Amino acid sequence: MSTIVTVASNKGGTGKTTLAVELAYALDAVLVDLDHDAGGATAGWADVGSLAPAAARRSLLEGDGPGPRVVARDGLPALVPAHPAYGEAEVDHAWIADQLGDWARRLAPRPLVIDTHPGFNALTVGAMVAAHLVLVPVLLQERELRAFAGLAREFEHYPLASIPYRVPRWGDYQQASVAPLHARWREIAGAGGVRIGPTVSEWREWPRRRAGRALLAAASPGAWVAAAQAELRRVADWVAQLTAEVAQVG
Ligand SMILES: Nc1ncnc2c1ncn2[C@@H]1O[C@H](COP(=O)(O)OP(=O)(O)O)[C@@H](O)[C@H]1O
Ligand SMILES: [Mg+2]
Repeated sequence: MSTIVTVASNKGGTGKTTLAVELAYALDAVLVDLDHDAGGATAGWADVGSLAPAAARRSLLEGDGPGPRVVARDGLPALVPAHPAYGEAEVDHAWIADQLGDWARRLAPRPLVIDTHPGFNALTVGAMVAAHLVLVPVLLQERELRAFAGLAREFEHYPLASIPYRVPRWGDYQQASVAPLHARWREIAGAGGVRIGPTVSEWREWPRRRAGRALLAAASPGAWVAAAQAELRRVADWVAQLTAEVAQVG
C-alpha cells in the first residue's frame, strides 16, 4: 500500500518541516521535500549533491528521467530532496498529483510524507490532491486560527487533519490563555469536518538544538527530549491509524 501524508499550512515558520521530518522518521516513510526555500528539509541532509535534486525535478516536473532518488543519512528519514527550480515551476497541480502518486507506488511499501512550501502553489496543492491525509499543524494564536479557518473552508473536500502545534506548557497564565484558543481550534475543525489529533508542545530548547538528526533518533534522551519524543510518537500513531482507515475507504 502506498500512502501519502502531506504536511501543509498557509503560514510559514510554524514548524511544518520539523514535524514532517519527525513524522517521516517515526513512520519509516520517505520524506519528499517540495519546498525550494533554503531553510527547508533538504538543507538538513549532509552532502545531498546535485544528482538527486535533478532527478527529482525531472521526474516531478517533466515526468521522465530515472525517477526519484532517495538520499539516506543516519538518524534521518530517507529523503527525496527538493530542487531550487521548484519555485518557478509552471505546472498544473493535477500533473504534480499524478507524479507523486507514481512516486508513492515506486517507493512502496514505505509511505510518503511530503513537506510543502507555505501557501498554495501548484506543488503544494498537487501534494494535497495526492494525499490520503493532509496534516495541518496549527499554532493556537489569533491570526493562525483565522488562517486555519480559511484553509478548512477552501479545502473542505480534502482529507484534512489537524494538531495544535507548539502549545506553551509553562506558566498558569499561558495555559489559561491557550484554553479558549484551543476551543476555537476544535470548533473550526468540527465545522469543516477536519479530524483532530494530539498536541505537540512548544519545546523551547528545540530550535537551539544542533540539527543533523531527528529528535526521535536521539538515543539517550534527557527529560525534555523524552517528553517531546512521546508526543511525536503519539502523533505518528494517530496518523498511521488515520491513513490506514482513509486508504481502505479510498
Ligand atoms: N514543537 C516545537 N517547539 C519549539 N520549536 C519548534 C517546534 N517545532 C519546530 N520548532 C522551531 O520552529 C522553527 C520553524 O520550524 P520549521 O519546521 O522550519 O517551520 P516551517 O517549515 O513551517 O517554516 C524552527 O526554529 C524549529 O526549530
Ligand atoms: Mg518548512
